[in-house]
Formats: sequence, structure tokens, C-alpha cells
Amino acid sequence: MNKFKNILAATIVASLALPGIAYADGTVEVLHWWTSGGEAKAIGELKKAFEAEGGKWVDSPIAGGGGDAAMTALRARVVAGNPPTAVQLKGPGIQEWAALGALDDVQDVADEEGWDDELPPALAKIMKYDGKYVAVPVNIHRVDWFWANPEVLAKVGVTEMPTTWGEFNTVADKLKEAGITPLAHGGQPWQDATIFEDVVLGIGGADFFRKALIDLDQDALTSDTMVKSFDQLRKLRGYVDPNFSGRDWNLATAMVMRSEAGFQIMGDWAKGEFLTAGKVPGKDFVCAPTPGKGFVLNSDSFTFFKVTGEEKVEGQKVLASLIISPKFQETFNLAKGSIPARTDVTLDKFDDCAKKSHADLLAAIKADSLVPSMAHEMAVPRSVRGEFLDLVTNFFNSDMSSEDAVKTLAAAVKRAQQ
Ligand code: BGC
Repeated sequence: MNKFKNILAATIVASLALPGIAYADGTVEVLHWWTSGGEAKAIGELKKAFEAEGGKWVDSPIAGGGGDAAMTALRARVVAGNPPTAVQLKGPGIQEWAALGALDDVQDVADEEGWDDELPPALAKIMKYDGKYVAVPVNIHRVDWFWANPEVLAKVGVTEMPTTWGEFNTVADKLKEAGITPLAHGGQPWQDATIFEDVVLGIGGADFFRKALIDLDQDALTSDTMVKSFDQLRKLRGYVDPNFSGRDWNLATAMVMRSEAGFQIMGDWAKGEFLTAGKVPGKDFVCAPTPGKGFVLNSDSFTFFKVTGEEKVEGQKVLASLIISPKFQETFNLAKGSIPARTDVTLDKFDDCAKKSHADLLAAIKADSLVPSMAHEMAVPRSVRGEFLDLVTNFFNSDMSSEDAVKTLAAAVKRAQQ
């Protein structure tokens, strides 16, 4: 059913009276950071669906993986008193903006459509402020993945994906000896933090991850386990090519596609790149969780900033309703590499990586080993995340010892909390 049905009647009357005015109905300006091939295809699905409802879509993409540039742009827009109507935002960021009174809630849409019955409770909680939905989730991304080129691995006789960091190092050493870059990586703080948190899960397990990266426990941050995690990060530094600095994540994915590197460690938005390039999972590329029993959760969502004008408010409600609809959750996530945020969407059309993600998600919920991503802003305030990113990047780009890294990190995290 056309969500703009009622307003459309008014539009026809208005456009008869004022020829040339195309839209008197819902409008959204959407600020997001989905600019890579797979990302652009996925957000393109949302634009298409919104326009099919008769709405007007104004696109405001801010390039920059992980969204740091988009968040800077958002702050500037809000300070200037001109917020976009809809913004890709997540985790504690949702709560921070809601606490400032900047967000409109969409509780009326949620009530009408019964969102509480459709979303995993842990996700619904992140979307609510003061008991009301101020955000709507579009997907569930998993951060702890290896993406590999099987043809490249076969060159060194490897047919199985590594299941421990030790195994990974052995394969990586073989690739290096054969003159192949083991790890495609982009040296940007959020990418460094992505591989770091995956290593922490593998070395320390989910409970340790939670203590160190979420609860910010000083003992965990200065523990031997954390020293060992930095040791493994140092190993990974030895597996990247000399031109890694500043490289965008999707260019690193392309290196794996083009057989220029064996692996990439990245969330499953990387799968969106492989698929957009026509690559076939299980044949042209393979996926496997990085070592460690658990699941590092990252979920994208949209928030609705306080705006004036009936057509904008209507646009927000229509967008919220569209995003949560089962059909859209399927179409979008098939392109994005993630799985639906709704629990009632079947995965029949999805590939084995998505099915594995879903099965492991359920297992992790049961085993209490589901952890929210620090690097992708699902867990800690931006100020604390900033300290992690700074230190991890400094470590990656210097010869800092693991012992010094844990001391400096623990002190910086403490300062950020004061
Ligand atoms: C987002 C993904 C996005 C990735 C790279 C992550 O933080 O959750 O949707 O594709 O950054 O830009």
C-alpha cells in the first residue's frame, strides 16, 4: 500500500493549483556514509523504495568508512541549526543525541506495527530512549570475519581457513615466503581498531572482551591477555603490504578479489563488495569467523532529527516504516552483506556466509558470547572509543612495545572516563 496515499491526494490538488511544484508530500534528506560499491547499492534500494512510495529523497553521502567523517559533518549541521531529516547513527550515539533532545521519536509507527515483537530485545533496547523508539535498525553486521581468496591460499597448499591466531600466522608466513601479501589492510584508525577487537576476542574470549573493551576494567586492560593481544596485532602489522597507510577498506577488499592478497579481516560489509563485483561466495571468495568463540555485533540504524514542516515529519515516518518492513530488510541486506535485524525474515535467498552469521548469532546469544563492537560504536562513548583508536593506530604505526601499549591505553581510557 502506498504510504503516502493520503498526502498524495493533497499533492494532486496542490500541483493543479501550482503547476511546477512537484512535491507537497514526504521528503527526507538522508545523511549516511555508504559510498562504496556494495554500500551504495544497498542505500540505493532504500531510495528506490522511498521514491516508489511517492516520497522525495535528498541524498547526503559523506564518504569515509566507519562513519567518522559523517559524524563530524552531522555535528556541523546541527550546530548550524540545519539537521538532516534522517541520519545513519548507532549504539551510544543514538542515546547521546536523544539526551540532547535532538531526535524525534517514531513510537506511533512502532506501536502501529508492533516493532517490539519483531526485533531482538537487545537491539530494540539500543533503539529506544526513554522507552520510545528514536531509531530503527536496518541490519545486523558481524565484525569478526576473515575474507579470503581460495585460489591464493591454494598456491601455498592451504585449503582450510585458520581457526586460531597461531594457525593464521602459519598460513600468513607461508604466503609471505611465496611473495604474496598475506593481509589486505587499510591503515585508518577505525580499520586498525576493527582488527584489534577481533584479535582481542580470539586471544581473550568474549568475557575478557567485555571486561576490557566494554566495562573498561583497568585490570583487564593491563592484563597479560591484553599484552598478548597487542603481540598478535604486531604480528598482523608484519603481514600487510608497504602501501597500507590510509587505504580505504573497499580497496583492501579489491586486493583479495584481484588475488593480490590472501586475506582481509573486516566486517561483512566486505561481502557486499564481493557480491557487487559479481564474485561467488564459496568459489571466488570464502568467509570464516576470526578465531574465538563469540560474535562481534554491529548494527546500522537510522535516527530522525527534529525538523519542522509536515512533509519532513511525514517523510520520517514513512522511512521508518519502510526500513522495518520485511521485504525491504531482505532486499537491503542481500546487497549490504549483513542479515536482517528482524527475527521473522527468512534467509532462503541468502548465501552461506549470511546463514553462518545467523546461526552463530543465535548460538552466541545462548552462550552469552555476543559482544557489541567497540570499533563500530556499539559499546562505548565516542570519547573512549577515540582513545582506543588513537592508541591502536599509534601502536600499529610505530615500534611501541605491547607492555607500553597496555599501560598507555589503560591510562588514556581512565582519563576519558573522568
Ligand atoms: C558500518 C557499515 C559500513 C562500514 C564501512 C560500519 O561502521 O556499520 O554499514 O559498511 O562501517 O563503511
